[in-house]
Amino acid sequence: MLHTQHPVDQPTLLEVFATGDLTGSSRRYEKHITDMAGVYLSEASWSQQVSTAAADTLVYSVNEQKYQDGSGALIIGTSTVLPGTYGDEYAVTRGHLHTTSDRAELYYCLSGKGVMLLDTVDGDSQAIELTAGKAVNVPGQWVHRSVNVGTEPFVTLFCYSADAGQNYGIISDAGGMKTLVVHDGDAGWTTIPNPRHIGYTRGQTS
Ligand SMILES: [Fe+2]
Repeated sequence: MLHTQHPVDQPTLLEVFATGDLTGSSRRYEKHITDMAGVYLSEASWSQQVSTAAADTLVYSVNEQKYQDGSGALIIGTSTVLPGTYGDEYAVTRGHLHTTSDRAELYYCLSGKGVMLLDTVDGDSQAIELTAGKAVNVPGQWVHRSVNVGTEPFVTLFCYSADAGQNYGIISDAGGMKTLVVHDGDAGWTTIPNPRHIGYTRGQTS
């Protein structure tokens, strides 16, 4: 007979929609265009869009369920990145490395067309295209950011350890990620080196 020290939590049902709606989520947060100061290489394009918007434009949102705490628990949610460009650069999330940096994450594309942009602290870089039905398993030690390279919202379902945490400063301290995802004419998207990137420092990451 198995014994448990604590009452066992009950399973929960989530209903996940291609729009990013998530029935059963416990938290929602939104990022607006003014939250993205300093993120894009073309600050002129970003500031021009800030100044001409009637209100502080929503650029991405997250719905998530954090049901339990601890190293064995999961955070499950949806991320919705709205389409946009700043200069040639496609709309991105701020991106992060997990504070407990060995924690992996699943991203499964529900709708739209996007790229998961991935860097290691040591200088490897990858850009993986996602469309509905495709997923990427992001291992630990990879800085990651979602990029919308389409004309519709880019919506992903994500799942990661509840004790992972997010280190956002590692990207801003590095001058941005190693590459930029940019418009490439009729060919769609491509990556180019980010001229402001000065390399990552591990900082307080474990
Ligand atoms: Fe993450």
